[in-house]
Amino acid sequence: MDYDALRDSLQKQFDSDAATAKGESDLRGLRDKYLSRKHGLISALMKTIAGAPADKRPALGQAANQFKQYVEDTVAARMKAAASVRPIGDAIDVTLPGRPPLIGHRHPLTLLRERVESIFSRLGFLIVEGPELEDDYHNFEALNMPAEHPARDMQDTLYLASAVPAGDGRPLGGAQGRPATLLRTHTSGMQIRYMETHQPPVRLIAPGRVYRRDGLDLTHSPMFTQVEGLVVGEDVTLADLKGTLIAFARELFGPERKTLFRPSFFPYTEPSGELDISCAACDGSGCAMCKHTGWIEVLGSGMVHPAVFEAVGYDPEKYTGFAFGVGIERLALLKWGIEDIRLFYENDLRFLEQFPL
Ligand code: DAH
Repeated sequence: MDYDALRDSLQKQFDSDAATAKGESDLRGLRDKYLSRKHGLISALMKTIAGAPADKRPALGQAANQFKQYVEDTVAARMKAAASVRPIGDAIDVTLPGRPPLIGHRHPLTLLRERVESIFSRLGFLIVEGPELEDDYHNFEALNMPAEHPARDMQDTLYLASAVPAGDGRPLGGAQGRPATLLRTHTSGMQIRYMETHQPPVRLIAPGRVYRRDGLDLTHSPMFTQVEGLVVGEDVTLADLKGTLIAFARELFGPERKTLFRPSFFPYTEPSGELDISCAACDGSGCAMCKHTGWIEVLGSGMVHPAVFEAVGYDPEKYTGFAFGVGIERLALLKWGIEDIRLFYENDLRFLEQFPL
């Protein structure tokens, strides 16, 4: 028997089988066909060689082993190559458009605060900030609201627990040698803080969060945002106050809105006034939104009270000034026709993503 010819024809057969084997399962079949111990073609070859004459056997055995090694290497290399080719479904399609990254945007209240800041910056106002944790003196007393002053009831104050005495809930403050600490109920305390440390002329706004003992409803929130304004100099008049605030309202709400300056009362200003704008919903003819008055209140203001100047050591004979306080949430409700203040705090993206309109 020609053992060499037998082995050569087996190798040719393997090469042609290997050439047509495609996926991993074809290759597994190929491996079984040649390498299976029990019924593989190479096992069969070995058995045949065992019947060769003893002097030929070693060379034939060596050649058969080389062939077996060749088959093992070929199958292993093809298996490896097949495993690295994944079906198209799992592949990365480099022709697909990219996923755009989500770009955040500013909260509507931030947008509006920045708008107010930019309007007053252009009018030459400085922007200052102060503490939200305030003392009784700066929040009330120096603003001409001594303890027991009824005007304190206009703002339901959140006192810090350590500062609340037993009894009616009113802090004793300095009487016990312990100043009452509170969450500021308005930004007006910043008037005092700034004037205590600076000399006139003053022209500032002070934006910031304020706190009141109010529940959350359509128009109230225990925390909201105000912008305080203060101008002090030697000849500051009520005309300056009106001119500044009307310019501000027109800039923010549009020149077509009418403005109304109406007398009011605040302990830290004399005279005091409130600025209204004509109702956007009915254009001044009266509707539910403006409670049928045609006007909507925008801010409180007035000429700085002499008692306030005295508290900070300014000479009320020499200096005059005006102050104002405006709520950012209120401006936002009016500007965008929103009816529920809670929308600003609920972080619902469907609402927040609509700004700027
Ligand atoms: N502090 C007032 C408030 O919280 C707003 C205000 C009114 C501020 C008149 C002022 C002012 O500076 O002059 O309702």
